[in-house]
Amino acid sequence: MAKTTFRSSRSSLSDRKTGLSGAVASFKFMFFASAITVAVFLFFTLSLFVTPSTTNPSDLNLGFASASDGVGSVRRTVLALKSDPLKPRLDQIRKQADDHRSLVLAYASYARKLKLENSKLVRGFADLSRNYTDLITKPAYKAMFDSDASSIDEIVLRQFEKEVKERIKVTRQVIAEAKESFDYQLKIQKLKDTIFSVNEQLTKAKKQGAFSSLIAAKSIPKSLHCVAMRLMEERIAHPDKYSDEGKPTPPEIEDPKLYHYAIFSDNVIAASVVVNSAVKNQKEPWKHVFHVVTDKMNLGAMQVMFKMRDYNGAHIEVKAVEDYKFLNSSYVPVLRQLESANLQRFYFENKLENATKDTTNMKFRNPKYLSMLNHLRFYLPEMYPKLHRILFLDDDVVVQRDLTGLWKIDMDGKVNGAVETCFGSFHRYAQYMNFSHPLIREKFNPKACGWAYGMNFFDLDAWRKEKCTEQYHYWQTLNENRTLWKLGTLPPGLITFYSTTKPLDKSWHVLGLGYNPSISIQEINNAAVVHFNGNMKPWLDIAMNQFRSLWTKHVDYDNEYIQACNFGL
Ligand SMILES: *[C@@H]1O[C@H](CO)[C@@H](O)[C@H](O)[C@H]1NC(C)=O
Ligand SMILES: *[C@@H]1O[C@H](CO)[C@@H](O)[C@H](O)[C@H]1NC(C)=O
Ligand SMILES: *[C@@H]1O[C@H](CO)[C@@H](O)[C@H](O)[C@H]1NC(C)=O
Ligand SMILES: *[C@@H]1O[C@H](CO)[C@@H](O)[C@H](O)[C@H]1NC(C)=O
Ligand SMILES: *[C@@H]1O[C@H](CO)[C@@H](O)[C@H](O)[C@H]1NC(C)=O
Repeated sequence: MAKTTFRSSRSSLSDRKTGLSGAVASFKFMFFASAITVAVFLFFTLSLFVTPSTTNPSDLNLGFASASDGVGSVRRTVLALKSDPLKPRLDQIRKQADDHRSLVLAYASYARKLKLENSKLVRGFADLSRNYTDLITKPAYKAMFDSDASSIDEIVLRQFEKEVKERIKVTRQVIAEAKESFDYQLKIQKLKDTIFSVNEQLTKAKKQGAFSSLIAAKSIPKSLHCVAMRLMEERIAHPDKYSDEGKPTPPEIEDPKLYHYAIFSDNVIAASVVVNSAVKNQKEPWKHVFHVVTDKMNLGAMQVMFKMRDYNGAHIEVKAVEDYKFLNSSYVPVLRQLESANLQRFYFENKLENATKDTTNMKFRNPKYLSMLNHLRFYLPEMYPKLHRILFLDDDVVVQRDLTGLWKIDMDGKVNGAVETCFGSFHRYAQYMNFSHPLIREKFNPKACGWAYGMNFFDLDAWRKEKCTEQYHYWQTLNENRTLWKLGTLPPGLITFYSTTKPLDKSWHVLGLGYNPSISIQEINNAAVVHFNGNMKPWLDIAMNQFRSLWTKHVDYDNEYIQACNFGL
């Protein structure tokens, strides 16, 4: 199936490149993640049609391995489920048509943004979208939507289903074909942006120090790095106004009686959206403390961002990873691995000139910062020694409810409160780690249920008692050659909190808004936290329109820098 070929061609592309030390993982992760997302996405598009409402679509988060295994077994047509009444089925088919229509529209607008105006692609997507509209407004079918459930003609419904199905098939083909061209165009565009902004910033960099040019060199959307740059300029112009250096830590920051949150991010707008959305929903904001940690090059921008507005009394601490001195390479295996010879070679040999040939180097990010920010989640008890509990939030989430209820949950002595993501044979441990390895086989059950990062409630006292950080160090060290698991923080998380995870009710954390177009509105409305995991981040052009406003409504459009940079236009 398309999925498999696509993935394998992508992974060989990135594998060829390096003699792989563990560190290249962070670069490769982007590409694996995008390949896997596309794969899951294609799978999803397929399963959307063949598995009417039997699985919870939000469960399909960024998976690993063979998500396609189950497709055959669940394949059946909508109408094979012989049951009355017809109305829900009609609604479902109609919804699928609508979802696919939105999908082709999203691709069309994406194609336009990439300046593929004159290409066959844009026309193809536009035609497809029109085709769905035509179908739904066809007189024969329109009657069906207008009338009530009792008068739906099953023959007409079957015909409608058939036509929707044909179009979905075409849509899938077109998207699969388009994908290749998209990737290519996207890379070229990103490269142009990057080169342009590097030149643009070169002169400024001299004045502002090396970090600002590093900001400019990341291939995030232009308006986003514009915001980071402007904030940084403000920070440099008024150092006294924003720096906390030398000032005593306010007592709230370490007060274990308050509600504490950890947000680790290098994206100023995303981090501010998490905090804004959380504060907006808190009944007593002054009892909440947000610990924002970023990397050194974004520290200035973050400091300015969070000093620019009032958070109704909520407390915000902004720090850089580098402020946590205990995180040195003699203590942290990831840092040690990053400093390995292979990485040094990789990082220093690949200068801009080579970037055109080197897809893994597309993100001009220092892998050390990037990776350490990701792995910080394993050091919460040491970063916050006075605290008993903390809520960890990813920077691609939006908070929709007061979350204090989490602090009332009985954790049964467990360390990590998280929502589980497994269903059927999917998202089991077997998909995340190498069960051919004797150490893995010996310690873990391949059928154990996976859970998600993004909103995790950690009991830090239980963590210290269970020595989870030591566990993590043990396994991360063993994985130097990446034979236990490939990438990311989820597999080591699953390993570290294997017997110490407490499953939370799924409404606390609804996943998939970055790739899954058909999460139900009820599920989203009911969610305490929604998570834009997947590639279609709400701050990118490719965000899914139907979910984007959940995020954009928390962006500070009054902020002068966000305005000046035309963010979101
Ligand atoms: C619309 O769909 C029908 C059925 O799949 C197909 O015959 C027709 O060519 C499509 N039109 C366009 C413009 O894609
Ligand atoms: C690294 O950090 C540990 C504490 O985590 C400390 O004991 C050690 O001295 C540090 N090593 C270096 C080289 O700074
Ligand atoms: C580009 O890569 C080649 C080897 O792949 C290396 O010899 C060369 O020095 C690199 N160029 C730059 C500017 O780093
Ligand atoms: C990883 O591979 C290198 C060289 O192949 C070897 O020297 C090292 O012991 C391996 N590390 C682990 C943890 O297996
Ligand atoms: C899984 O572990 C086995 C045993 O150590 C090893 O031979 C194999 O290469 C590993 N697989 C991957 C994909 O690393």
